[in-house]
Amino acid sequence: MVMTALLDVRALSVSFGPGGARRTIVDRIDFSIGRGEIVALVGESGSGKSATALALSRLNEGPRCGYSGEIRLSGRNILALDHPDLRRLRGRAIATIFQDPLSALNPSETIAQQIAEGMRAHGMAGPDADDRITRLLGEVGIHDPDRVTRAYPHQISGGQRQRVMIALALACDPELLIADEPTTALDVTVQTQVLATLYRAVQKRGMSVLIITHDMGVVAGMADRVMVMYGGRIVESAPVETLFALPRHPYTRALLDCARHVRDASGHYATIPGTAETAFALRATQGCAFAPRCRRARPACFTHQPELAECSDTGRVACHFPLVGSKIDG
Ligand SMILES: Nc1ncnc2c1ncn2[C@@H]1O[C@H](COP(=O)(O)OP(=O)(O)OP(=O)(O)O)[C@@H](O)[C@H]1O
Ligand code: SF4
Ligand SMILES: [Mg+2]
Repeated sequence: MVMTALLDVRALSVSFGPGGARRTIVDRIDFSIGRGEIVALVGESGSGKSATALALSRLNEGPRCGYSGEIRLSGRNILALDHPDLRRLRGRAIATIFQDPLSALNPSETIAQQIAEGMRAHGMAGPDADDRITRLLGEVGIHDPDRVTRAYPHQISGGQRQRVMIALALACDPELLIADEPTTALDVTVQTQVLATLYRAVQKRGMSVLIITHDMGVVAGMADRVMVMYGGRIVESAPVETLFALPRHPYTRALLDCARHVRDASGHYATIPGTAETAFALRATQGCAFAPRCRRARPACFTHQPELAECSDTGRVACHFPLVGSKIDG
């Protein structure tokens, strides 16, 4: 499906730390998200997924965080916006659902007050605001919306709080929804219900979504396209069916093997040797950051850094020796 890009990210870098000792976490990444497209961002813990997601609406901005590159939403460069424009953008054009709703919600305001406040900030709290809030809570699967509107965050369950976060994010009809591990804190049954609710709501609105998750089942069920991040770089991007059927990057393949609980010839479950933390140090060298953990690594991998390049009509991979079949032959 050809889609016009809503979000276009070019050479985005995000670095943290005091002035002279900045550590580049996200390193010159390029990607786009089409209108109505659901893109999943996956990768091991610490690979830079949240740093990327937060940067999209400059939520990690501060004296110890620097950005470079471009983040264009409908053509406007978010990195060049002044603060009043940035406030107008947050919640309205881009909304974010966080992993921990308890810390994201204000404990001293009722749920209705918090949703109404978001709507007011964007001039969307008309005379029918109360009705809209109740309808929205019903839409995200809250069975007793009248009670929940009057409740404080601690008076509702974790699953309800996560549904409230979704309602808050949808309240101003954002163009782009960012969901950073939106259900990790919930039990598995509730996770599934909340994700199904989220999926229905975004499908109905034709919204673009960036979803970050460790759950490949969620990726398979929700996403149109997947981006795989390793050491702050995107190493593979492909439509979800292609990526699952024929991962090109050895790291993608290893992640999928772990998720599928694949066993080797001796019956051991697949693991990825070493840790992802080494990637950041290795990125400064000439070689591939995944090389010490890669079963396919050859001498050239330690001396030449692979760039993300097209490997098919719809896929891109950063590997000198991408997989061509479904089996790792290294
Ligand atoms: N504000 C910050 N200041 C300093 N370092 C940071 C900051 N935010 C993130 N980092 C570092 O950036 C790296 C990537 O962090 P990030 O939170 O983006 O990982 P992640 O891929 O979202 O991991 P997880 O799957 O565990 O959520 C980590 O080494 C982290 O310590
Ligand atoms: S470039 Fe080499 S080391 Fe890096 S992922 Fe590809 S095969 Fe493995
Ligand atoms: Mg994270």
